[in-house]
Amino acid sequence: MHSFSALLRAVLLVTVTSASASSFFRIPLTKLTPPSSYLAGLPDADRTRAAFLKNFVSGGPTTVPASNLAYVQYTTSVGVGSPPTYYNLVVDTGSSNTFVGTGTKYVQTSTSIFTGEDVNVTYGSGYFSGLEYLDQVTLAPGFVITNQSIGDALSYADFEGVDGIVGVGPVILTEGTLSPSTNELIPTVMNNALSQGLIAEQILGVSFAPATSYNDTNGALTYGGIDSSLYTGEITYTPVTATYPAGYYWGVNVTDATYGSATTVIPKSTAGIVDTGTTLVLLADDFFESYLRAIPGAKIDPSTGLMTVPTKSVSEIQPLNFTIGGTVFSMDAAAQLIPIDQNTEWGLPANKQYGVVSYLGTNSGEGLDFIIGQKFMEKYYAVFDTDSNRVGFAYTEHTFTTYTP
Ligand SMILES: *[C@@H]1O[C@H](CO)[C@@H](O)[C@H](O)[C@H]1NC(C)=O
Ligand SMILES: *[C@@H]1O[C@H](CO)[C@@H](O)[C@H](O)[C@H]1NC(C)=O
Ligand SMILES: *[C@@H]1O[C@H](CO)[C@@H](O)[C@H](O)[C@H]1NC(C)=O
Ligand SMILES: *[C@@H]1O[C@H](CO)[C@@H](O)[C@H](O)[C@H]1NC(C)=O
Ligand SMILES: *[C@@H]1O[C@H](CO)[C@@H](O)[C@H](O)[C@H]1NC(C)=O
Repeated sequence: MHSFSALLRAVLLVTVTSASASSFFRIPLTKLTPPSSYLAGLPDADRTRAAFLKNFVSGGPTTVPASNLAYVQYTTSVGVGSPPTYYNLVVDTGSSNTFVGTGTKYVQTSTSIFTGEDVNVTYGSGYFSGLEYLDQVTLAPGFVITNQSIGDALSYADFEGVDGIVGVGPVILTEGTLSPSTNELIPTVMNNALSQGLIAEQILGVSFAPATSYNDTNGALTYGGIDSSLYTGEITYTPVTATYPAGYYWGVNVTDATYGSATTVIPKSTAGIVDTGTTLVLLADDFFESYLRAIPGAKIDPSTGLMTVPTKSVSEIQPLNFTIGGTVFSMDAAAQLIPIDQNTEWGLPANKQYGVVSYLGTNSGEGLDFIIGQKFMEKYYAVFDTDSNRVGFAYTEHTFTTYTP
């Protein structure tokens, strides 16, 4: 399963040992699929505010399509150079470098300027290293960032089917990725879009949805604001957590989580991260254990690291409810399970029922005790607000659906 969260530099990890830090991101899944597959290597005031943005920004917030690729990652088309070459880049809130070259090679044009720096980023799954350039980056027609620092991946692993990453995490995550300028931060596309006046505030709106085909362009990214047509009700905001290491990312506290009416999964306020680059929903091992035990017959399938649920238990699946910012965000049975008709494309045996909630690989208490990944965001609209240092979630038309195996 993909986890593109940037591994934090040791220098940042003042509150945890590097051993425990590395294990947070060792996503406990083995490769699921044949190498030819894209899955190889798996693994309101706010409305007023939105209206303000729409009225006062030249061009206004810009919404672009995003594609749910192979059910396990979201990509968006980004142009680099002039004339631009277009790349399908993974949308990653868990890392902050933007790079190309893992599929379609970097095509240099008259706008490409070598910075003299090497770049090297290690992710929860995979890595890339290469050379750092300044270039023109087209996020949408007419939405063109100049002088954006991007990587050209020359060696890399685990990017099958995609051309790189557009990193929309906090800029701190770029620390230590350049060489020789190891202390230099690399302004992100959001940072540059703001400084170049393309957006009025650093807000990213993310709309994902369950895929109905292998490469389903069912998502939308809004740079510089939120799109009120993509959610229902109000957005609930919660501050970025002050608990580390989650606080280096788009980290939030979940107040509690329950499964059904009888099972406590997360007993007290706990920090974790919201990460579009992680496919699953991962819970600290002790939290996950409570969840697993509450589903009769559920167990971990050792060959995939995914939870399996006996057929007779599927109709008994209860809501998994997370309280965030005082609002309950519920994952219904459909949200918790991998549609069985997708098993083959996930590289899974055809007749078993798998789940999308899994374990982190470490117990709770380490300052990053869950990852709310893509499968949660397929149900809820998400807002990543750098300027107000907060994350928002809202219900959508597809928050609740019925699961029919
Ligand atoms: C990139 O970083 C990794 C982990 O720190 C290291 O093992 C690798 O040698 C580095 N690669 C390059 C090309 O600098
Ligand atoms: C281009 O970006 C680099 C770093 O990303 C910065 O050092 C430089 O001053 C910028 N140049 C211009 C003309 O904005
Ligand atoms: C997925 O669909 C998008 C939009 O049609 C397209 O640009 C992209 O090339 C497709 N990706 C793959 C891997 O087929
Ligand atoms: C979980 O959320 C669902 C959907 O909002 C709700 O019907 C249910 O009562 C909640 N369960 C608990 C225990 O809060
Ligand atoms: C967030 O969770 C951490 C534990 O992960 C806790 O120490 C901290 O007090 C919580 N913060 C809030 C504001 O509840």
